[in-house]
Amino acid sequence: MRIGSNQISAPVMNAACSVAKTLADVKALCQTKAGIVLVGSITTLPREGNPEPRWFDGGDYALNSMGLPNPGAEFYKQALPKMRDMAHRAGKPLAISIAGHSLEDYLELAKLAAETEVDIVELNLGCPNVSDGGIISFNPQLISDIIAGVHGITDKPLFVKLSPYSNPEELAHIAGRIGESEKVTAVVTSNTFPNGFMMEGGKPVIKNELAGVSGRAMLPIGLGQVKQFRKLLPENIKVIGVGGVETKADTELYFQAGADMVQTATLIVRDGHAALNRLIST
Ligand code: DHB
Repeated sequence: MRIGSNQISAPVMNAACSVAKTLADVKALCQTKAGIVLVGSITTLPREGNPEPRWFDGGDYALNSMGLPNPGAEFYKQALPKMRDMAHRAGKPLAISIAGHSLEDYLELAKLAAETEVDIVELNLGCPNVSDGGIISFNPQLISDIIAGVHGITDKPLFVKLSPYSNPEELAHIAGRIGESEKVTAVVTSNTFPNGFMMEGGKPVIKNELAGVSGRAMLPIGLGQVKQFRKLLPENIKVIGVGGVETKADTELYFQAGADMVQTATLIVRDGHAALNRLIST
């Protein structure tokens, strides 16, 4: 498969998560059979992330309220060229997942991506744990403005990662806008389901209490998002499925639902980067 000018060796990659931020993470991802190495999500300013505990393993689901811990744009200005070279030596394109609150945040990070010549830009519009001004996935005008603005800065392939939509009409409206923009290479569906809650021994398992739901429980939800987006988007826009992928059989389900690629994060947070290899034959 090709994405822009990049040859993709396998239709599986990591999703944005807490173990895709450092040079060591990139090195470990380069050593897997993943088709693309994704760094992020990153933000303009350094972030320590939310107070611990901020990740909970519930077995057939996970909860996270990481709060996008990352060393910020200044760090990535130095690190991204090294990360890109590392990925290229491993025969993989480097993608960067960028996150923010405003159009200006995304424009600043798109400039960083352009300057450091990363191969693919992913807009994380669905992180539920830092949403002071609301989750961007639910703001159609801001989605359109960010896509248009970022496209004005870089002509690299653009991935748009969205929250899962429980309202099919809302999903169709967003798919329509993205289809119209003619600037999006792939829709990545989907980020965590916002605001799950769990207690153990009478106490919330996550310090901030509400947290994004990921893992196995998201499999039918992720597949349903892929099925709907594939039907609604123009053929030239790829669909990348995320949610509950733990085995090669799960990736096959995503491909049957219409996905061109899959991403996974909970699996590698739990079992390490090399767990990606379980999803890829040869
Ligand atoms: C991160 C990003 C996410 O979208 C998410 O659901 C969890 C963590 C992160 O980059 O830290």
